[in-house]
Amino acid sequence: MKPSILVACAVFPEILDKLANHFEVSANQSDEVWTTADLATRLQGASGALTTGSERIDAALLAACPGLKICANMAVGFNNFDVPAMTAAGVLATNTPDVLTETTADFGFALLMTTARRMAESEHFLRAGLWHRWRYDMFAGAEVYGSTLGILGMGRIGQGIAKRAAHGFGMSVVYHNRNRLDAVTESACAARWVSKAELLATCDHLMLVLPYSPESHHTIGAAELALMKPTATLVNIARGGIVDDVALAAALRQGTIAAAGLDVFEGEPTVHADLLALSNVVLTPHIASATRSTRWAMAELAADNLIVYLTEGKALTPLNPQVLASKA
Ligand code: GLV
Repeated sequence: MKPSILVACAVFPEILDKLANHFEVSANQSDEVWTTADLATRLQGASGALTTGSERIDAALLAACPGLKICANMAVGFNNFDVPAMTAAGVLATNTPDVLTETTADFGFALLMTTARRMAESEHFLRAGLWHRWRYDMFAGAEVYGSTLGILGMGRIGQGIAKRAAHGFGMSVVYHNRNRLDAVTESACAARWVSKAELLATCDHLMLVLPYSPESHHTIGAAELALMKPTATLVNIARGGIVDDVALAAALRQGTIAAAGLDVFEGEPTVHADLLALSNVVLTPHIASATRSTRWAMAELAADNLIVYLTEGKALTPLNPQVLASKA
């Protein structure tokens, strides 16, 4: 008998067909939003799950689903997984690194450009029929070419953004990360490590690309925003919760910083009303990796992790390889 799996979110139908060659597949093509209790009920009897960042996999859920062997996240971020609890329960966790790096770096740069150059705000103005005459200061934004970009979190995506900035836009790139990059990588990115305080004070544009964890909760709050230039732009393509959205909205309202571009939010898909009320913020619905080919590659990698683990005991991108070792 084929093992059963749950695909907790809508995916390409071809990916479901591929999974159905190996498994009894229970899918959620209508993308219903499930509570944790719904998820636990649907996981009964399942050996594997294909999840997105929206499904929380923690000790309580694992205790309720003793048959579960693997959760394959269709995302590079995995803050929805309690990885130590999964390891303790012998459940393999996988994510989708690498396949989305350049696409996400492109989007980060696009959001930076859109925000600094006030593209969304000016487009809304034009559509509203408010454009009557060219004016010298109309939607005058911040310079991007030749400015200073600060990157907080310098993993694969941060490095991709640094290369675009330094080599394509003549920017000075400074970064802050828990671990400083080796000299060869720093030189390829033309990036200089600085303290977090120096990063915030010197950058013209701040790009957030760090993973979310309890330690990175509200990495940017009122105190950090107060250190930034009043002309600065902030872009968050990482995770909601890294920025204190209420403090950010206040800073944008009061002119502590000039503008923000946000693809992720605390409590998404709900967006705080204070942010929605502002014109100097560009808001996008968590789409940084959303090109057709990249979303396909993410879905396929998540599916392949399920297939190779449940059929051969192997994994392509494990987050807790200890589980593989313990089963060997
Ligand atoms: C998207 O946010 C991801 O983590 O892949």
